[in-house]
Amino acid sequence: TLPNDLAGETVLVTAGPTREEIDPVRYISNYSSGKMGYAIARAARLRGAKVVLVSGPSALPQPVGVERICVTSAAEMKEAVLARCDEATIIVKAAAVADYRPAHRAEHKMKKHNTDALNLELEKNPDILSELGRRKGHRTLVGFAAETRDLLENARKKLTEKNLDLIVANDITQQHAGFDVDTNVVRLLAPDGSEEILPEMSKDEVAHRLLDRILALRG
Ligand code: C5P
Repeated sequence: TLPNDLAGETVLVTAGPTREEIDPVRYISNYSSGKMGYAIARAARLRGAKVVLVSGPSALPQPVGVERICVTSAAEMKEAVLARCDEATIIVKAAAVADYRPAHRAEHKMKKHNTDALNLELEKNPDILSELGRRKGHRTLVGFAAETRDLLENARKKLTEKNLDLIVANDITQQHAGFDVDTNVVRLLAPDGSEEILPEMSKDEVAHRLLDRILALRG
């Protein structure tokens, strides 16, 4: 039996990849499946929270009892998150937001030319989490850092720079961790320098351990 320990909390979760359109038939994206974020949304709901899930394109079913807002691009995700962040007491940003988007979206399908190379100009997407960090208030703000190298160094940097209360450091080079698998291997890093190392476990279990930790932070 699960505790009802998140009753009274409103948890805003983002999940999945974003898609950045190049033209009407092409886009830039990443391998995120949404599994980690959806697991957090389900777990928070089971523990009594009101849950709003802002999801990029994902094949996963809508979690029961959770309000899901489906978005495609980082710009849309930002709009949805900013529209709903005021009511949230806890925000967990598990989405793999594309860092860049095509600077110009072609109105018509781009044609093949006789040149061997094609340059695609990209421009930076807004960093949603940094924006939330700047207007944090009393909310508990949790980010993810999926890295292929210098995991802890990169994660600590994001924790500080984005003004987070907790970051989930995720070494995606490990076999049973990261994109599109049902398990994960993570560490939970806090601004006081503490570090909780979790062994390999299901993403559902990671979700519960993360929520335990968030509750401990909220005191
Ligand atoms: O900087 P990086 O993308 O690795 O940071 C990861 C964290 O920041 C994740 O929690 C992700 O959801 C969030 N993020 C964001 N907006 C972006 C890029 C990342 O909210 N444009």
